[in-house]
Amino acid sequence: MLKLVTYPDPILHEKCMKIQEFDDSLKKLAADMFELMYKSNGIGLAGPQVGVSQRIFVMDVNSKKRVVINPKINSNIGTNAIEEGCLSFPGIHVKVIRFGIINVEYQNEEGTLITENLSGLESICFQHELDHLSGITFIDALSEETKKFLKKRMERVKNVRRDT
Ligand code: CO
Repeated sequence: MLKLVTYPDPILHEKCMKIQEFDDSLKKLAADMFELMYKSNGIGLAGPQVGVSQRIFVMDVNSKKRVVINPKINSNIGTNAIEEGCLSFPGIHVKVIRFGIINVEYQNEEGTLITENLSGLESICFQHELDHLSGITFIDALSEETKKFLKKRMERVKNVRRDT
């Protein structure tokens, strides 16, 4: 069973490696990531968040499950911003400005190349998870002061969880 990596674990700021082998262990990893994501009530989960520094994430938005490997954004239109959460930052919500509609390219767990347009929450989730693969988290663009404040808040959340 995979374990969730939380901030400030340094792996969250590492750049991930491209995946070359589309074998059974990759399918197992994707299945295990879905299991942990659902258990944690998340809609997306990226490799670094389970200690795997490889270019893979899983997402389930609008009841569509995606295993996303070696992803990139080809083009984008407009912007969109919502209060985002992240399984690696318990209790924290931050509004992030992102692209609105994106045209993306990635491989699935079979290695098949997929190109599609994403909008709304699917687009936002994809961009959030893609950032994880570059070692970028959703609080990175914030000021040092705000980050310090959020870190303290996360500690409080963790302490509460330990107590109950
Ligand atoms: Co996240």
